[in-house]
Amino acid sequence: MTAKSPWSITLQSRVGDVATRIPGAAEFLRQVGIDVGGDAASTLAEAAAAHSAGSEELVTQLKARAAAARRAAPEITPDLIGHILRRYHEAHRTELPALIELAAKVERVHSDHPDSPRGLANLLSRIHDELSDHMAAEEQALFRAMQMGGDANLGEPIAEVRHEHEEYAAPLQQVELVTHGFRLPEGACRSWQALYAGTRKFAEDLVTHIYLESTVLFPRFEPHGAQRRKDGQVAATT
Ligand SMILES: [Fe+2]
Ligand SMILES: [Fe+2]
Repeated sequence: MTAKSPWSITLQSRVGDVATRIPGAAEFLRQVGIDVGGDAASTLAEAAAAHSAGSEELVTQLKARAAAARRAAPEITPDLIGHILRRYHEAHRTELPALIELAAKVERVHSDHPDSPRGLANLLSRIHDELSDHMAAEEQALFRAMQMGGDANLGEPIAEVRHEHEEYAAPLQQVELVTHGFRLPEGACRSWQALYAGTRKFAEDLVTHIYLESTVLFPRFEPHGAQRRKDGQVAATT
């Protein structure tokens, strides 16, 4: 991937951008002690220095996670689309309504707790509404055309969907902030535990879902935007 690509990972990449774009990045950054929400505006170099982590190693590890996600993607396009539909579209549709309900309950029951995830139900609800329209549009038009082999007219609809993908970064960062990086308070009830476990899984899924579409699936139909290899896979992109 070129240095201009929004998917490239360098020492100057912002923590918030990486955490909301690269599969497994948020979890990895949390593990090395970086506050994914609070440090969102810091570069990887700054965050690494503040947390005594090796910055080059950080970039290497993040690139390895991105590469692993691409390697795991089915090579045949209809298989890849089937995988995205089953593993992500269906999962989001099943999980989000239950998470919104659970978040509302936890916010209500623990309204006086200083660590209460205030605003989480609203945030998830907004994401749910936007994602429902986004996924329906992909399924009804774009994916159907791609499953039939695509044509030269897909450039514009793909650009629109790419633009919509960009709009999930901000709410995902907000989710990280209102849940305090999914840190449970001492003695958290089972509902609170289930809410953070489920929301964390959803956030990770959404990042991987968008990553697979934007860096693996769409470039197969953008002859000017990506180098295609003969097997239809796109050349390494980080
Ligand atoms: Fe999708
Ligand atoms: Fe999408």
